[in-house]
Amino acid sequence: MSKPIPIAVVGSGYVGLVAAVCFAEMGHPVICVDNDERKVSALQGGDTLIHEHYLPELLGKYRNSRVRFTTDLAEATRESDAIFIAVGTPQSENGDADLSYVEAVACEIARSLTSYKVIVEKSTVPVYTNEWISRAFERNGVERHLFDVVSNPEFLREGTAVADFLHPDRIVVGADSERAGAILRDIYAPLTGGKYYEREDGIPGPCTVSEPPPLLMTSTKSAEIIKHASNAFLALKISFINAVSNLCEATNANVEQVARGMGLDTRIGPKFLRPGIGYGGSCFPKDVAAFRSVAEQLGIDFSLLSEVEKINIQQKKRFVGKVRSALWNLRGKRLGVLGLAFKGDTDDIRESPAIEIVKMLLNEGCIIAAFDPAAIERTRQVLPESKELRYASNAYDAVADADALLILTDWPEFAELDLKRLNKALRYPIVIDGRNLYDPSVMTEHGFTYLSVGRPAAYPVRDLAAASSRG
Ligand code: UDX
Repeated sequence: MSKPIPIAVVGSGYVGLVAAVCFAEMGHPVICVDNDERKVSALQGGDTLIHEHYLPELLGKYRNSRVRFTTDLAEATRESDAIFIAVGTPQSENGDADLSYVEAVACEIARSLTSYKVIVEKSTVPVYTNEWISRAFERNGVERHLFDVVSNPEFLREGTAVADFLHPDRIVVGADSERAGAILRDIYAPLTGGKYYEREDGIPGPCTVSEPPPLLMTSTKSAEIIKHASNAFLALKISFINAVSNLCEATNANVEQVARGMGLDTRIGPKFLRPGIGYGGSCFPKDVAAFRSVAEQLGIDFSLLSEVEKINIQQKKRFVGKVRSALWNLRGKRLGVLGLAFKGDTDDIRESPAIEIVKMLLNEGCIIAAFDPAAIERTRQVLPESKELRYASNAYDAVADADALLILTDWPEFAELDLKRLNKALRYPIVIDGRNLYDPSVMTEHGFTYLSVGRPAAYPVRDLAAASSRG
């Protein structure tokens, strides 16, 4: 039988907040701590702060009851058996993860610790962080038998974070002590034992009573490496297919067919083989750089990761080149841009390739009207409206009288535009799609010139007829 374990989660960002409400959903009492008073009072008042499926429902259910929000880390430490550290680990200038927030939190916990606690690394951290945390505890006078540090990396994706948390492919626990490992097993028992999936009000997802997620026990260092290696490998898959897409463009092949042909091999798998304008977000760019930096510091040649990063940068430049190839001069061209978030279904713009491309095009002298269903407010803070940049109220407003439409984020609604209306609104019917949301033949039937990624450029049927009669 699983029993409730009092949990503290430090940090109320994407990972911390989702972990806090999901632990509550699994039956544990949770205290979520953040040192930002405004955030804490917003959360206490029911504001979710981030755009994430199921978060409003779960927060509504457990807020101020099974999940409490506070700025008082000492109190949270005293009242919990397990303390999850989920604070930011931003990228420093040389690519390293900046662990100063993790250290500050560790020292503060250490100062108020009087009985045994498991300290859990939830933030993505480089290998050896567990040893540094242990050292910080000892330096602050905590006796070794009063704590263990374990690594329990998180693999959630933004937009589907709650379902990913409650229906994970796997749960990884890196623990070097039996006692700590047993507490983590108890925490995840509602998932691994399948009980959660019996509930009628549970969040739906792929796990079931008969197929609950596996829990993999490893050493602490292995778990730390699993997280970095997994994200770096997924980024590598994306850069690989992007490089293949360039090869397809050079040979008039079709990358969608190539990716399908590759993905049907179960050893390769079909996921993360979608070509586009490069990966972004709060994890992949930072984690690839941090993993590369860890390898460098350990004297390991892992220059493969530098190539992954290089291809990712080139992919954005290549897209701008594609816009130029369609429009000739860029200065003064009016562009309708759909998408600012780093991927669809999120308002997150961190390391967004869409925003990088918008910036490059503004530098080239383009005049842009941009629309995104959720990310405009955040973008406004880094790219204020100006003579050259306007934020539109919907997709058709963005393309009004534009010389071309650019699709930069894979929001589902951008794949369902009214093509007749779009054609009418544009000054020239040119669509340059960085996410391959449309079938080229459908676009040409609707009179568009359609350029996408890794597929032959497609021209309207009448243009082709004219071209062949000229020929
Ligand atoms: C990622 C990992 O998936 C998750 O396991 C980890 O915990 C955090 O980082 P997230 O950043 O939310 O999650 O986004 P994800 O859906 O993985 O996409 C990352 C980027 O890669 C996006 O910019 C996306 O558009 C791009 N991408 C993804 C592709 O270009 N092609 C693909 O096939 C998949």
